[in-house]
Amino acid sequence: MCGIVGYVGSQRAVPVLINGLLSLEYRGYDSAGLAVLNNKNIDVFKNQGRVKNLTDNFDLDSVASKVGIAHTRWATHGKPSDLNAHPHLDNSKTFAVVHNGIIENYDKVKKFLIANGYELYSQTDTEVIPNLVHYYYNKLTNDVEFRQAQMLTYSTRYSSVDDVLLALRCATGDLTGSYAIELLASFSPDQVYIAKKDSPMVVGSGEGENFIASDIPAILQHTKNFYFIEDGELGIVKPDGVTFFNGSLEKINKELKSIEWDAEASEKNGFDDYMLKEIFEQPRAIRETIGTSIVDNAIALPELDGVDFKKFNMIYIVACGTAMHAGLATKSIFENLAHIPTIVDMASEFRYRNPLIDDKTLCVFISQSGETADTIAALKLAKEQGATTISVVNVIGSSITRVSDYVLYTHAGPEIAVASTKAFTCQVTTLSILAMEIASKRIGSSIDSKIKELCKELSHIPDKVKEVLDNADEMKSLAKELYKSKDVYFTGRGFDAYVATEGALKLKEISYIHADSYPSGEFKHGPIALIEKDVPVIGIATNEDINAKTVSNLLELLTRGANVTLVTNQKIENPEIQHTVKIPECSPLFASILAIVPLQLLSYYVAKEKGLDVDKPRNLAKSVTVE
Ligand code: G6P
Repeated sequence: MCGIVGYVGSQRAVPVLINGLLSLEYRGYDSAGLAVLNNKNIDVFKNQGRVKNLTDNFDLDSVASKVGIAHTRWATHGKPSDLNAHPHLDNSKTFAVVHNGIIENYDKVKKFLIANGYELYSQTDTEVIPNLVHYYYNKLTNDVEFRQAQMLTYSTRYSSVDDVLLALRCATGDLTGSYAIELLASFSPDQVYIAKKDSPMVVGSGEGENFIASDIPAILQHTKNFYFIEDGELGIVKPDGVTFFNGSLEKINKELKSIEWDAEASEKNGFDDYMLKEIFEQPRAIRETIGTSIVDNAIALPELDGVDFKKFNMIYIVACGTAMHAGLATKSIFENLAHIPTIVDMASEFRYRNPLIDDKTLCVFISQSGETADTIAALKLAKEQGATTISVVNVIGSSITRVSDYVLYTHAGPEIAVASTKAFTCQVTTLSILAMEIASKRIGSSIDSKIKELCKELSHIPDKVKEVLDNADEMKSLAKELYKSKDVYFTGRGFDAYVATEGALKLKEISYIHADSYPSGEFKHGPIALIEKDVPVIGIATNEDINAKTVSNLLELLTRGANVTLVTNQKIENPEIQHTVKIPECSPLFASILAIVPLQLLSYYVAKEKGLDVDKPRNLAKSVTVE
């Protein structure tokens, strides 16, 4: 996740760009940069670190240009560094690009460019874009036949073709993945070219000036009138107006919409709280986390090149809090698919119990922040004892990433609310991909078709999460019924038992209601004594092989007075169950990603009903850097 800003108009561009970047820092803050047009040249200022570094390190006050593009980065491809910071230029320094998103086929495009004489200097996926635009621009201006073919493909109804726009359209035609792109051409004064697919972008309209940004807050101080750019659309943004095009380069009219947000609401992108915003960001976060690690329905994890997966005889998954629940939710995928015994442990316990580790042990650490003290200590212990260590981390360059042998990044983007939501679903996604990779490497081609089918399933999960979010109001109504409860119990079997555990943690963290979870079969062995009239019980049932048993356990609780809510993707129509929350069907292996979403929403709405500060619950910290 990164943030982009752009400006064309009558003011100096730099202050608009810098202020915009500052309000987008929540989207990423490991490097920042900007490019401005300066008399047929493009001047670039960029470096590692926060936006403030830019103003500290460069004399930006003397930059007079009125046209520019800017970027704040949250590294995906290539570590945070001055070189990897955006904007990126093509080899001839004619085109500058800032980009939010992930170019999934960048390696293929890179090879194509190198074969055509280009050099790429950074480790980013983005650097291919300006070079590819240059390649097509050159071809359009030098190869008559190619030009005519492109005109026929794209521009039959657009007589005065802008060659840069056409080159950008040719380039985006070669790209797979997600992008919000701003492009400057050194010879095109006073204009910024834009293109978007699966990454957010808005254009703000002013008097004799126009603005571009990833999110409304970045430019809200300048205008309240916005165009919302849709996937596949392109545009040319000039001081006196914006021209939009569809993917066929036909001009299109877009509606200008007015936004009435105050400053605080705008930071949260219109949501009341960061937690709700982050819950709703999950489809995009999961899609970006899958990113380039699934290509053509097969796993592609070059980050793990060199790991000999066949040598391991057991896996420890070690983490704290919600991250540990992500480990629990995927333990069975490692065992069932990769056929390797897998133990999930709390980092604070693991490190003090002399775990049995040697060089045949794989230890997987999970952490959103990459800074949790117990997880770091457990990682160091595993390394000392000769294990191979792989960490699944959200924050690039954090301590855990520096200690671990191998790192897989989730691409959830910055998570600000203390209660973790999007980090969890992204961790489950990455761990599932890791489990499939291990299965592939250990079992070989006999599992290929199964993995292919699962990769396909996983790729559809972001859209299914969106479907769950579309029914958020159902959980809002349920919250109104539950918020006065003293206790709430969560239950399920198999994968669902761990969703129950995470659901209970979410509720207690932010609503301060006592919440607990038990595997459905365990209720009879004690906890059922706690059930009395109207005690809410939330059951999760997403696996047709064991649903009947879960439901029968729920009915036992119901007959003792429980008020039962069932979250399911199965056709379970039991009139005795008071509430049934339907989620989309999917493989039981990935159902936890869908099933946790209604529980996140329920916790959020319960806390809101109680008038609590959801983003900063009492006594809790986002990152626990002490033991
Ligand atoms: C704290 C946070 C939790 C988080 C846990 C582990 O308790 O409040 O939300 O799950 O730490 O944090 P990590 O950054 O290692 O995932």
